[in-house]
Amino acid sequence: MSSNITPDATGIGNYTEDMFVKAMRTGYVGKRQLSTVMPWQFNSGQTDKDLKAMYAYLRTVPPVSHRVDNTKAPTACKKCGEKHGAGDFN
Ligand code: HEM
Repeated sequence: MSSNITPDATGIGNYTEDMFVKAMRTGYVGKRQLSTVMPWQFNSGQTDKDLKAMYAYLRTVPPVSHRVDNTKAPTACKKCGEKHGAGDFN
């Protein structure tokens, strides 16, 4: 399942601008490699200015509390009604 990329703590609220730019360029968030479903290659050719603008925009969307962690086993989620990693946390 796609990640929560709102500025909530369960989303990407803990990201710095630098982390975001690196994630879009490399497909890695720190040491965690993102699933190939996330098409980061499409964003990797963008300028720093573009990627920083994208990060700035994502900071303005309302935070949504919904944990999705694809490194964990899929479990039922009461919030979205789907089964996904860390669903039982929500
Ligand atoms: C400009 C558009 C996009 C942005 C800014 C974006 C941003 C992100 C970020 C920052 C993450 C990592 C969140 C985290 O777990 O820490 C992520 C994960 C993910 N994205 Fe995207 N994304 C975009 C487009 C897409 C598209 C088009 C798809 C699929 C069609 C997609 C699918 C996913 C999936 C499945 C993950 C989870 C990967 C994993 O947990 O390993 N994203 N995205």
